[in-house]
Amino acid sequence: MNQKNNPIGIFDSGVGGTSIWKDIILLMPNENTLYLADSRNAPYGQKSKEEIIALSEKNTEWLLENNAKLIVVACNTATTNAIKHLRQKYDVPFVGIEPAIKPAALYTKHNAVGVLATQGTLSSELFDETKGKFARDIKVVEQVGEGLVPLVEQHKMDSPKTTELLKKYLQPMLEAHIDYLILGCTHYPYLVTQLKKLLPDYVKIIDSGEAVARQTKKLLSEHMLLNNSNQPGRHFLYSNTDSNILKLLLKDIEVPMEIEYLDF
Ligand code: DGL
Repeated sequence: MNQKNNPIGIFDSGVGGTSIWKDIILLMPNENTLYLADSRNAPYGQKSKEEIIALSEKNTEWLLENNAKLIVVACNTATTNAIKHLRQKYDVPFVGIEPAIKPAALYTKHNAVGVLATQGTLSSELFDETKGKFARDIKVVEQVGEGLVPLVEQHKMDSPKTTELLKKYLQPMLEAHIDYLILGCTHYPYLVTQLKKLLPDYVKIIDSGEAVARQTKKLLSEHMLLNNSNQPGRHFLYSNTDSNILKLLLKDIEVPMEIEYLDF
């Protein structure tokens, strides 16, 4: 079978990674995709590194059994804690996602940026390395977004609880006069409308979605795995809890897709 027609496998601790999936299918509309939302085990952010590695292995193995030609770890927490291990263990190209410190550090005029991410991401070695490499001379206000992932998982982006938590988490960043807010968790792009209401206009919100899509394309091309069919891609998305949340989040995407419950 022609490997180029095989799907790109994508996983996250839940529905958040669909924010990355959207960038991927926009850039490569002919690629087939398989998406796993491990919502039953969300949030990953408070789990130990060992637990995050075990869950990442489970998701990876399912995707490989279903012929994924490349795997996108669409979760900052799983990338920063498990991707080195995954790359060593499995013979397939992996693309990961990390908070976009580099562009924020490059463009900040206030020399202060904020990072909203999970505990697991902010305490990881990989995050520390990236910060050391690109943001040594600027102030980085790190904030754990505790409680935000479960709210997005329940599609409660507009709830008073969400606003209350966001206000609390943005406060120290506003006091430090940040001009860039880095979304270091793939669930958070679903909170952009709410964040914009709470932030002054000069604060730019950035995430790594487009960069991940570009990197996915580059890696596929390097491995001669780009799908050169001119048919639109086929998309299958699975949740191991309530698949209606995925349906709600993606209801405005005008691409045919199948969204189902799956016990994985
Ligand atoms: N989307 C995951 C991330 O990017 C959320 C992690 C979690 O489940 O806590 O980190």
